[in-house]
Amino acid sequence: MTELLKSFPQLCYLAASVLFVLGLKRLSSPKTARSGNGLAALGMALAVGGTMFLPGIENFAWIAAAVAIGTIPGWKAARSVPMTAMPQMVSIFNGMGGACALFISVAEFLKHGAESSDAALFGILLGTAFGAVSFTGSIIAYGKLQGIVSEKQVRIPFQSLVGALLAGTLLFCSAYVLASGDPQAASPAFYAVAAIALVLGVLQVLPIGGADMPVVISVLNSCTGMAAAVTGFSMRNMSMIIAGTLVGAAGSFLTLLMCKAMNRSLANVLFGSFGSKNIGASGPVGAGGGIQREINASETAVLMAYSRRVIIIPGYGLAVAQGQHLVHELDQLLEKKGVDVKYAIHPVAGRMPGHMNVLLAESNVPYPKLIDLDEINPEFKQADVALVIGANDVVNPAARTDRASPIFGMPILDADHAQHIIVMKRGRGVGFAGIDNGLFYDAKTRMLFGDAKATLKELVSELKAL
Ligand code: TAP
Repeated sequence: MTELLKSFPQLCYLAASVLFVLGLKRLSSPKTARSGNGLAALGMALAVGGTMFLPGIENFAWIAAAVAIGTIPGWKAARSVPMTAMPQMVSIFNGMGGACALFISVAEFLKHGAESSDAALFGILLGTAFGAVSFTGSIIAYGKLQGIVSEKQVRIPFQSLVGALLAGTLLFCSAYVLASGDPQAASPAFYAVAAIALVLGVLQVLPIGGADMPVVISVLNSCTGMAAAVTGFSMRNMSMIIAGTLVGAAGSFLTLLMCKAMNRSLANVLFGSFGSKNIGASGPVGAGGGIQREINASETAVLMAYSRRVIIIPGYGLAVAQGQHLVHELDQLLEKKGVDVKYAIHPVAGRMPGHMNVLLAESNVPYPKLIDLDEINPEFKQADVALVIGANDVVNPAARTDRASPIFGMPILDADHAQHIIVMKRGRGVGFAGIDNGLFYDAKTRMLFGDAKATLKELVSELKAL
């Protein structure tokens, strides 16, 4: 019985790890994502619950207080967060993960000091450095996305030199801690590692802006995963190693996929200057001398009702307007009239990976109707209408043609290949990259101005009346 009780935490960790893997697997499809999230949450509850049975755990009141402090605001925030603020939410949660790894590593150092084995000390140092970078980096990313810190690129004088000097000092201090056998002597160097890593997190994220933010968040995510995994090594906690490795690997893959979708290298995102080229690069709207031609809801409804194929391109504006239910209604009305309707999904449309998939799944648009960029692009030539709803950068032809454009090389949805293009947006506002869009001046394009939800409502009632 006592043997069973002794191995109970390890059994919980094993079950938790299996649940994390299964949960992650189920997150790969919108159909199973909800249950995947539930499984992973159950895994986390088991991991925390199992820890209570570890020898030496006594301060249950403190633990309960910490669990309550984390759970109540987390629960409330997750329930009330608008879909459009999800990247900030991910960022702040990620920062909390980094802070955990940092504090656990510092606690481990205080407990065992430099007397720990070299391997454990190495894990503690890595956990401290990764955790600290991830913590402050995520807080700055949160501030930028929330509008607290300037969203535009911030120039730091001699940034590369300062970064290299700090990184060099961090490595030197880490080597000193590892080489020293005296905990007293090693402590200042250890705290210097933590402090420098905290500064590096700020310095690394502060200059990055514009459309690079999602990639940064994803990099920080994998950084937190690695911090948790190495902290797990130093604590010999299997569950932390597995969970951390999963997060680290998932974050790394997501980073690579996003870089591919934007046609940028990771080095270019982290050390390049997208934002500086990005902001105001194309000057005022209409700089090309073109004009935007308008259309009204009634004309648009007629055009679509007599089409054979309509491709809907959802973008960030649809999410802001919360028009997803109306878009589905519009799609159903068109289908009733014999129109073939599909949705073209760009991998970085909106403000987070999979944003459009989640948004449209919310209104029960059948998943097979959401077609990825590579598959839908050849179909635009046969489409009678490309209906762009609150999207901008992801349909900007400058990405194909204009070498000077900050989004040059980013794969885009070929809306301009359709017979007619209808663009729904409120006015002449730019997209996330802050640049003008030649598609809006195309002779085949008509602008349907207004808030996406209000305009969709009008379109639906016009279609019903036809
Ligand atoms: P954007 O290029 O940001 O364009 C959105 C457009 O929606 C704006 O031009 C805006 O024009 C319009 N809009 C805003 N509110 C609206 C409303 N209530 N009704 C109708 N229209 C509205 O969006 P996108 O095409 O989806 O591209 C996404 C961009 O964000 C890319 O540059 C991408 O790299 C970046 N990004 C992506 C992610 C991920 S991972 N998805 C995360 C962060 C950033 P008006 O002001 O004129 O209405």
